[in-house]
Amino acid sequence: MDDRITHLTVREAYDRWSAFYDAYENPMVFLAGCVLARREEEIRGRDVFEFGCGTGRNLAAMREWGARSAAGCDLSEGMLAVARARGGELRLSQCDMCARVPVGDSSAGFILFSLTLEHVPDLEAPLREAARMLQPGGRVAIIEIHPFLSHDGLAAHFHEGGEEVRMPTFPHTFSGYIDAFRRSGLRLAECREWRPSDLGTPLPLQGMRRGPDFPMAVEFTLERA
Ligand SMILES: C[S@@+](CC[C@H](N)C(=O)[O-])C[C@H]1O[C@@H](n2cnc3c(N)ncnc32)[C@H](O)[C@@H]1O
Repeated sequence: MDDRITHLTVREAYDRWSAFYDAYENPMVFLAGCVLARREEEIRGRDVFEFGCGTGRNLAAMREWGARSAAGCDLSEGMLAVARARGGELRLSQCDMCARVPVGDSSAGFILFSLTLEHVPDLEAPLREAARMLQPGGRVAIIEIHPFLSHDGLAAHFHEGGEEVRMPTFPHTFSGYIDAFRRSGLRLAECREWRPSDLGTPLPLQGMRRGPDFPMAVEFTLERA
């Protein structure tokens, strides 16, 4: 029998998911982590900031790779509580990335969005904030579900105790991203599409449903325009 479907707000869904998010087998989270790990060199010595940092798994990894400082924001107090429990001198704030983020101008040399922009209907507000916070010579990295997949219905959700929990998501197009970069004062330096076969490491099985050569994630690298 199929799980019954429950619809929650983004904040409610992640507050609930936070209890087991890090232990949940999720091929997209695994893939995004592998893609970010390829940036280890670039991150060393930088002040990093993550929008929608969730449980802080990326911030903790970036600290291990030698980031000088690590900070982030998230809507969900539950996710942030898990991040806080990691220690590691993470500076965390609870806020909506579509509003002003309580962080100074030119304060971060590496800014990350990982699997979070699908929850934002208008990309321009958080990207403008990223542009404001970016140090000269710094970079913004975006790692998100590939538009082919999100337009085919793949979106953040989880299963728990016979329930499938869904939350608001907004699939973005390539032109939507590119327009928002330009309007936010950011320049696209690189775009890469990631298939399971690009990783050189096996994905959890559900991630192979469409085969090893179907693009699952998109990665953008942005600089100040
Ligand atoms: C799929 S999780 C990804 C977490 C983390 N970036 C990672 O890669 O594991 C998405 C996160 O984005 C956060 N989020 C969604 N919409 C947000 C918003 N408008 N402002 C701040 N955080 C938001 C959620 O609370 C959640 O923690």
